[in-house]
Amino acid sequence: MTRPITLTLTRPDDWHVHLRDGIVLQDVVPHTAAQFARAIVMPNLKPPVVTIAMAAAYRERIIAAIPATMRFEPLMTLYLTDNTSPDEIRRAVDSGFVHGVKLYPAGATTNSDAGVTDIQRCMRTLEAMQDTGLPLLIHGEVTEHSVDIFDREAVFIDRILQPLRKSLPALRVVFEHITTKDAADYVRDAEGDMAATITAHHLMYNRNAIFQGGIRPHYYCLPVLKREPHRQALVAAAISGNPRFFLGTDSAPHPKGLKEHACGCAGCYTALHAMELYAEVFEQAAALDKLEGFASFFGADFYRLPRNTTQGTLQQHEWVIPSELTLGDTALVPLDAGRILRWKFSG
Ligand code: DOR
Ligand code: ZN
Repeated sequence: MTRPITLTLTRPDDWHVHLRDGIVLQDVVPHTAAQFARAIVMPNLKPPVVTIAMAAAYRERIIAAIPATMRFEPLMTLYLTDNTSPDEIRRAVDSGFVHGVKLYPAGATTNSDAGVTDIQRCMRTLEAMQDTGLPLLIHGEVTEHSVDIFDREAVFIDRILQPLRKSLPALRVVFEHITTKDAADYVRDAEGDMAATITAHHLMYNRNAIFQGGIRPHYYCLPVLKREPHRQALVAAAISGNPRFFLGTDSAPHPKGLKEHACGCAGCYTALHAMELYAEVFEQAAALDKLEGFASFFGADFYRLPRNTTQGTLQQHEWVIPSELTLGDTALVPLDAGRILRWKFSG
């Protein structure tokens, strides 16, 4: 009998996750903490996390939801608005627990209404970020309804990102959850301190997944899944060994009833089984040896944090993704519910 293959790797981190707030923290934090040593926690709460005091209080609520048996460090972010002051940036740097500032163009996605209406209004604040080295984490889509939803990332690069990086060339930028070849090429070739996170779902699926045999709301996220050549470009970037590309799940829990809805929310829930999903992608690309850099090294290096020193294991072991999980007083459907996975990760 052949023994199942086990891969040992440095414990990974998730450089982009949504944990939400309130009672659901108890349901979602253990999933992320079981897989990842640290995670960059998105600030798009209602109301958004716009001050250091709010980030500190949110951090405490997350820490209270970590099971006693697990070790996990939430890395906090601030939500950039037209009114975020340069002083708030200095306080963020001094805090030691805020590791980035998130730019949501107003209206781009879930709870982005308070986001930036015009980047020009933020220039003094962005200059303070450039001066202090605090990374800007960008949801890179234009919001104009006249721009086709499948083109909004590529148009963002031309209209917003390139001019911004020309004005502030030393600003450290993470282009979050990239979905196009345009973005992968831009990040690969850009000058300066530039990186990107890539989700498991954008590596696994193209836009057909949303429409396969009927409308499938659990495959709807923002930025929306793109055509197959884009997916292939993302896989190529993820397995390239280029340290500019690293893991960020963008796991985003929404109640089942709000996903399976006439106007369903954007977001895929992958926190439960993220490493298993990434492992399948890397295995299929014959690049399992590149997974550790992508999942465990490059993000920490970009954020100027130490690499983790403990380990996790991926074992070849089949298990079924549950059809539903608990989310407070309602249900949560994980991505690919009911499918058999080939790997089991223990962090
Ligand atoms: O699909 C998404 N869901 N994309 C985002 O940018 C936000 C996220 C959420 O918060 O639900
Ligand atoms: Zn996100």
